[in-house]
Amino acid sequence: MKGKEGPEKLIRSHLIGVTPYAYVAPLEAATAESGVTVDRIIKLDGNENPYGCSPKVKKALLEYPFYHIYPDSEQRELRQALQSYVGAPLESIIAGSGSDELIEFVMRLFIDPGDRVINCVPTFGMYQFSTDAWGGRVTTVPRNARFGVDIAAVKRAAAEGAKIVFIASPNNPSGNVTPREDILQLLDLPIVVVLDEAYYEFSQKTLVPLVREHDNLIVLRTFSKWAGLAGLRVGYGVFPDKIAKLLLRIKPPYNVNAAAQVAALESLKDLEYLRGTVKAIVAERQRLFDRLAAFQKLRPSPSEANFILCSVVNHDAQSIYQELKRRGILIRYFNTPLLKNYIRISVGKPEHTDALVAALNDILLK
Ligand SMILES: Cc1ncc(COP(=O)(O)O)c(C=O)c1O
Repeated sequence: MKGKEGPEKLIRSHLIGVTPYAYVAPLEAATAESGVTVDRIIKLDGNENPYGCSPKVKKALLEYPFYHIYPDSEQRELRQALQSYVGAPLESIIAGSGSDELIEFVMRLFIDPGDRVINCVPTFGMYQFSTDAWGGRVTTVPRNARFGVDIAAVKRAAAEGAKIVFIASPNNPSGNVTPREDILQLLDLPIVVVLDEAYYEFSQKTLVPLVREHDNLIVLRTFSKWAGLAGLRVGYGVFPDKIAKLLLRIKPPYNVNAAAQVAALESLKDLEYLRGTVKAIVAERQRLFDRLAAFQKLRPSPSEANFILCSVVNHDAQSIYQELKRRGILIRYFNTPLLKNYIRISVGKPEHTDALVAALNDILLK
């Protein structure tokens, strides 16, 4: 490039200060740090499915003959198959490369630089990250002591001219569901309500049927958690008709790759198996909760998702995280103004709970 200044000077200036998304480290990094081999790491930090995907998905991926052909940009077969699972018409459903991409699409649709997005914290980090990346501005509305959404504060923020409110339900990291009555109040506001139901299969509570009646409701879902496809990146959104039509026109073509579409389709054909693993996770969630509650230093929050948030008292949450990591057990810890001294543990298999509890006994009771 000619001239004294390099192309970095041409980068959109608001991007320079963006805080990167705090992603979970890959297994190999944990192995390198702890010396525990990949197959023995107990990964309870990403809310992934410890049972993996359906065996039929692996077979279908192996046998699929068309990886050299672009996938269907309009995702017709997948959207067709999703209709009965989701209970919404094909026209209203659009898939993405993980629900993360659907969040990006919402920004692409609605956010001009400077537009306001309401974020009910503590919550999933992508809402802040994507708003920042698109040049929007976040209005932060803290949740109450039990992590419920402060509806009155959201209403005030909306009155000041916000365009979107994001509500994860169940919320990550707290695990609680936002009641239907609260969402109905938000739907009366002149803003777009994005209800993120990434953990729907574990809570069995959905407001998808409301999309038909409310032209400002978008519901996001994913195959990452219940179907064990986090690594393949496939999610979907249920959109009001006009928004879905527009989104189909402005999304990148082929945004869901062929392998992801095959895997999602096959998952929908093997619901019995997948519902079985979801049932096992939900049962284990209760057992994990009871085990954690038995520690005097841990205060687990009730959860309708596949993870449990715990407040840590009279002990340092970060040191629990580090001590567990040294033993090859990965969890998340938080030490922010709203989550002072917390840990979050994804629900694993029964043997994972047992190993975790044994390690916690060692760490907390010595
Ligand atoms: C609330 C919430 N929404 C969305 C996602 C992202 O899901 P995906 O893997 O489909 O991008 C997560 C992942 O942790 C999440 O917690």
